[in-house]
Amino acid sequence: MIILGIETSCDETAASVVRCSGDKIEVLSNVVASQIEIHKKYGGVVPEVAAREHVLNILPAVDEALKKAKINSVDAIAATVGPGLITSLLTGVETAKALAYAWRVPVVAVNHIEGHIYANWLAPNAKNNARFPALILTVSGGHTMLVLMSGHGKYKVLGQTRDDAAGEAFDKAAQLLGLGYPGGPAIAAEAEKFKVENFPPAGGLKVDLPRPMINSGDFDFSFSGLKTALLYAVKSDKNWKKKIPEYAAEFQQAVVDVLVEKTIKAALKYNIKNIMLSGGVAANSELRNKLESAVARKLSGARLHVPELAYCTDNAAMIAAAGYFYAKIKDFTPWKKLKADANLEKMKAR
Ligand code: KG4
Ligand code: ZN
Repeated sequence: MIILGIETSCDETAASVVRCSGDKIEVLSNVVASQIEIHKKYGGVVPEVAAREHVLNILPAVDEALKKAKINSVDAIAATVGPGLITSLLTGVETAKALAYAWRVPVVAVNHIEGHIYANWLAPNAKNNARFPALILTVSGGHTMLVLMSGHGKYKVLGQTRDDAAGEAFDKAAQLLGLGYPGGPAIAAEAEKFKVENFPPAGGLKVDLPRPMINSGDFDFSFSGLKTALLYAVKSDKNWKKKIPEYAAEFQQAVVDVLVEKTIKAALKYNIKNIMLSGGVAANSELRNKLESAVARKLSGARLHVPELAYCTDNAAMIAAAGYFYAKIKDFTPWKKLKADANLEKMKAR
């Protein structure tokens, strides 16, 4: 089965073609028209600008994805219908509807977060398939969640952030430290400098930030207080500009510590042996490394699955992968009923 994935929930216009059979999903093309350079000067995504860019980029992206995949027709279209910025989502949804009508092919409505989870099913990680139950830590710019997945399309949200998402916290912390947008990679790069040059620092870390809710006894998260703690720490330090790598390292460590601790606790409580990481923050190497070593040390017989870097941040291959498992059981949405939903809560978008 050949699936065209379409993703426009935020600031990446993405189209991808995947070829699927059994549990194997092969990416034939993965086109991402990134708007990062455009939004950089505003310090974050400007919805109206993103919407206009999507309109300009979507058809060229679809065209390029089809050309690179060297195919002329697809069996189904999978499109992100939410959650996300409504003005961005509309372009992808309307494009999917128009193509479905013109090509007479069925459409699958995909939840963006569900798409992130399915990045774990993209080849060469295909061997990870069908390892249920799985525990997924999904960490992006808009969401932070621990999800128990008992089968394809079967989710139980164990906990989520009560305020800022992990990626959002990285973005805000980076802005505060004058590191620009997107914040995650910028913080990670500064933190790396600190490690290379000063780690471990003589006399220990001088910057000390809290690990919010680390012992809360549930699986919820909160990151807005951490950002405020960073703000106060910086405000009370005349020399903060000379210590940006140290602030970045401690901030990153605080986020990673909380994410790792809660994931391990959830895996122990529910006796899960398959742990998966997903979302833009899953590209963070400190998180990948710390989670990997914690899983090895604390969860005997468990495996950590991580998507390839290209499939952590927003892309359409992950949307096509999620769509495939529904297309397989003919769980389609009539194209006329396909609707963008900025606040979509159901993990299964239909
Ligand atoms: O999943 P994603 O591409 O978009 C959303 O669905 O939100 O995630 C984007 C988020 C941004 O907040 C960005 O700062 C963060 O992922 N991010 C990272 C890294 N790369 C991207 N955060 C930490 N470390 C990274 N290497
Ligand atoms: Zn995303």
